[in-house]
Amino acid sequence: PIVKPWAGRFDAPTDAFVEAFTASVGFDRRLYRHDIAGSIAHATMLAQRGVLSEAERAAIVAGLDAIRTRIEAGDFAWSVPLEDVHMNIEAALTAEIGDAGKKLHTGRSRNDQVATDIRLWLREEIDGIATELRRLQEALLALAEREAETIMPGFTHLQVAQPITFGHHMMAWLEMLGRDAERLADCRRRLNVMPLGAAALAGTTYPIDRHETARLLGFDRPAENSLDAVADRDFAIEFTAAAAILMMHLSRFSEELILWSSAQFGFIELADGFCTGSSIMPQKKNPDVPELVRGKSGRIFGHLMALLTLMKGQPLAYNKDNQEDKEPLFDTVDNVRGSLKVFADMMGALTCNRPRMRAAAQQGFATATDLADYLVRKGVAFRDAHEIVGRAVAFGIREGRDLAEMTLDELRDFSSAIEADVFAILTLEGSVAARDHIGGTAPSQVRAAISRARRRLAEK
Ligand code: ARG
Repeated sequence: PIVKPWAGRFDAPTDAFVEAFTASVGFDRRLYRHDIAGSIAHATMLAQRGVLSEAERAAIVAGLDAIRTRIEAGDFAWSVPLEDVHMNIEAALTAEIGDAGKKLHTGRSRNDQVATDIRLWLREEIDGIATELRRLQEALLALAEREAETIMPGFTHLQVAQPITFGHHMMAWLEMLGRDAERLADCRRRLNVMPLGAAALAGTTYPIDRHETARLLGFDRPAENSLDAVADRDFAIEFTAAAAILMMHLSRFSEELILWSSAQFGFIELADGFCTGSSIMPQKKNPDVPELVRGKSGRIFGHLMALLTLMKGQPLAYNKDNQEDKEPLFDTVDNVRGSLKVFADMMGALTCNRPRMRAAAQQGFATATDLADYLVRKGVAFRDAHEIVGRAVAFGIREGRDLAEMTLDELRDFSSAIEADVFAILTLEGSVAARDHIGGTAPSQVRAAISRARRRLAEK
């Protein structure tokens, strides 16, 4: 029978249901690689400090390497009575190498061990997420470049507002994703601090060298305070908050893609590979991918709330509550990563229906502001110009004609300041080209924004 590492002070065995209820090995086994890396660094430092002999260190490292290989080969018997990934691996090490294995836990606790494992794991996952995010940024840049001159209606209140370019619209999303990338990088920087050495909560009596262990594991420095090191999961909350904001962006972006690919908009077409059909309606091509991403944002918001609530009532230092940090965190990582990957691929394969977008921009008097600005240039005060154009629009609605479809005489009925040169500014191309400053929708400005964004990405 399995003897628990902490069994010494107990008379009776753990209740069978409690054993299963308290175990985390079903999910925290996912940390095995980082747990082993942390143990190897810890043992290496202990040997440097003379706490372990060189032979003991070598046996521990070889034993842990062998265990890692076995886990990866699917040849490792995970035990629920051994509770978690930490005690499973430690027990296997002792079974493998004998007494030296019993020395690995010298000067260490599962409390600083698990806090270290999660940080090592999350650090790596953030790097993976950053790679996916970058792929999406690059896909958007390519799309923005291809569609820098493509005219579409810009909306406020989902009502046609002013003409913009599709490239400009894509670059708006690029900016938002850029801030998401910065938030993740910032979170990574703050989490890269090492708990090991905090032991259970107060530190340890052995002559450890925490700077050395931190160096071996690629941490920037050891945590300043042993209680803080084992007690807080703010880094997980911070990551999930950044992930929630990112998913909010992807959800909102998804909403647009879903609308735009409907027959009523018809602005874009998602590639077949990113859509599914209906089991009953033969004509259907459904935008399942953006719908699912929009849906997944909800569960990530939920994970953020779960982690905040998990933490808020805990007295210092470690409490078992913290075992509940893993499933929300793992699920957040998996779904954010998957959403980014599928989004990057989907955006790379998206096609635009330029005539449809242009036609939509021609409805709804999208150039009304251009006409008001024109009148201002002719000496009319903006408020008067607004009123004049409003009356012209009302006429257009009654007649079923856009401003550009009116005759000069008709337009001059609203203001004698209007002259023949008005028609140039009433075109869609003229309207977007006139927004010619940094941050504006003019195609030349979109191209400049693309090259600045490329430069920023290359510097990272
Ligand atoms: N499985 C535990 C967790 O996920 C590891 C730490 C356990 N520490 C303890 N004192 N029971 O948090």
